Amino acid sequence: MAIGGYNQLSLKSFNTQLDIKAYQFQSARAALYAYLNSAKIKTLYVPNYICDSIFPALESLNVNVIFYSINDLLLPDNISECTSTNDSKILLVNYFGLLSEQIKILTTIRPESFIVDNSQALFCEHIEGTTSIYSPRKFLGIPDGGLLRTSINIDMPEDCYDASKNCGHLLLRAAGYVQAGYRQFLEAEQALECFIPKKMSVISAYLINCADINLIKETRQRNYKFLYSKFKSLNQLQLPINGQIPLCYPLKISHDVGSVYKQLINNAIYLPRYWQSECNGKVGFNMFNSTLFLPIDERVSYAELLQLVNFIKKNL
Ligand SMILES: Cc1ncc(COP(=O)(O)O)c(C=O)c1O
Repeated sequence: MAIGGYNQLSLKSFNTQLDIKAYQFQSARAALYAYLNSAKIKTLYVPNYICDSIFPALESLNVNVIFYSINDLLLPDNISECTSTNDSKILLVNYFGLLSEQIKILTTIRPESFIVDNSQALFCEHIEGTTSIYSPRKFLGIPDGGLLRTSINIDMPEDCYDASKNCGHLLLRAAGYVQAGYRQFLEAEQALECFIPKKMSVISAYLINCADINLIKETRQRNYKFLYSKFKSLNQLQLPINGQIPLCYPLKISHDVGSVYKQLINNAIYLPRYWQSECNGKVGFNMFNSTLFLPIDERVSYAELLQLVNFIKKNL
């Protein structure tokens, strides 16, 4: 507590807390590292469609990575090929936060065999018996953060992540300076490439406290349903919302979307692409090439969504 002195950014507190039982790190990959290291995992089955950012952590722990294939529904082709023991686990990705029910079914019989990667599914509940990781900054305006739920004991690092130099993009973006903020965003992401676990920053903890979580959840669901209704007949990937809170609306079509991405950028519409990777199998390759990942977050207004729908329909 301090009285007087220099001024501060003053946000309204909503007393928001994410999963209070979770260990809190600076990133999901640091959370994964902490778990694999503590549990002494030697082998990890990984789907052949995933973000490359996790691999340096696996390499540094000398974890043997065995890729498994996923099918068009983004689920393991043949899970029984993955044999889990005490020192081997199967990583399941909850893609776009839209596979929660399917993952629940897959993990029913031997939950302890699985690590559920909920990096894209912040609001998907942890399944008892499994281990799960989360990456809250994909849903919230925070500079860092990664959660781990597991039944094993994790020795937490002493040091906190210092995010004080990596918040500029959040402020610039809020002020409407999207391009200037983008450069700083890339730098902030680069700083997270160091996966050696640290505790989540105090800045992220404060910002989470001030996040209007109900608004975030409701808007994501409303926007998803809207896009789902608009693209139902066009989308080759039918993933119903089923009460989930998705990361985005993936619109998969029958041809390459590279040129559409370029047109969108020319119109100041910025969409992420998941994921360009050497490790992509056939399904992952097609997902990257033929899918538009449309935003559904609380910043997108109804008018903007409509504009986006019309633009895409016109340009596909
Ligand atoms: C499926 C998946 N797993 C793990 C990660 C790593 O998350 P973080 O950047 O918080 O380390 C990502 C990041 O994009 C991801 O999409």
